[in-house]
Amino acid sequence: MTAYKPGDPTTLNRLYGRSKGKKLRSEQSDLVENLLPQIAVPDEGVLTSERLFGDARSMHFEIGFGGGEHLAYRADLLPDHGFIGCEPFVNGVAMALTHIRDGALRNVRLHMGDALEILRRVPDGSLSFVYLLHPDPWPKARHAKRRMMNDGPVDMIAAKLKPGGEFRFGTDHPIYLRHALMVMQRHREQFDWLCNKADDFLKRPGGWPETRYEAKARRIGHEVWYFRYRRRDA
Ligand SMILES: C[S@@+](CC[C@H](N)C(=O)[O-])C[C@H]1O[C@@H](n2cnc3c(N)ncnc32)[C@H](O)[C@@H]1O
Repeated sequence: MTAYKPGDPTTLNRLYGRSKGKKLRSEQSDLVENLLPQIAVPDEGVLTSERLFGDARSMHFEIGFGGGEHLAYRADLLPDHGFIGCEPFVNGVAMALTHIRDGALRNVRLHMGDALEILRRVPDGSLSFVYLLHPDPWPKARHAKRRMMNDGPVDMIAAKLKPGGEFRFGTDHPIYLRHALMVMQRHREQFDWLCNKADDFLKRPGGWPETRYEAKARRIGHEVWYFRYRRRDA
């Protein structure tokens, strides 16, 4: 297993696909220019809850939030918690900013770029939740190392979660599902799979809203699988 070594990029070799799509509408460009700098994760230094939110609140971290529906829903549901969302795709960031503005959400900080660069700056044992919903599948075997669900990132997620903290993962991709289950099986000393019945992973857990990507997957007839893992005591 390739263990996570703080500061060692070779264990976290992530690549993402596109970072730009359709031209932004002028209202969206405005949000990227004006709102994003106000709520952006600082460029350097350790990312404690006190630094980002002004107090010792519970922190949540979403990797690849897409259009930000899940991030905004959770932030609205838990206004006393702090949320960090990372997404390299500018159109997704613009959509998330729209949700943040419309919901007057004050408890969200965003990073437009690689989630792992930000996650590594969060102190160990400081997160209550990490979300990885429908990560890019990289279905070809030769691209498997690019998947977010791999030993390096999972070790880092385990390090950053507090004992009892939760890692939520969802996918509609059968190849990714199989790969993820094998990865998580290798990490069973760090995580307990929160599952009471055999078909739990077929049912959407409470407090887990449908994302745009998920809705699209269901429209084309895909099954969606949901996983909750609890960080064990270190
Ligand atoms: C298939 S989409 C799913 C988006 C969203 N989670 C949802 O369920 O609608 C995967 C997302 O992960 C983002 N992504 C890929 N690599 C990433 C990385 N290294 N850090 C953060 N986000 C990443 C992509 O830009 C894309 O928006």
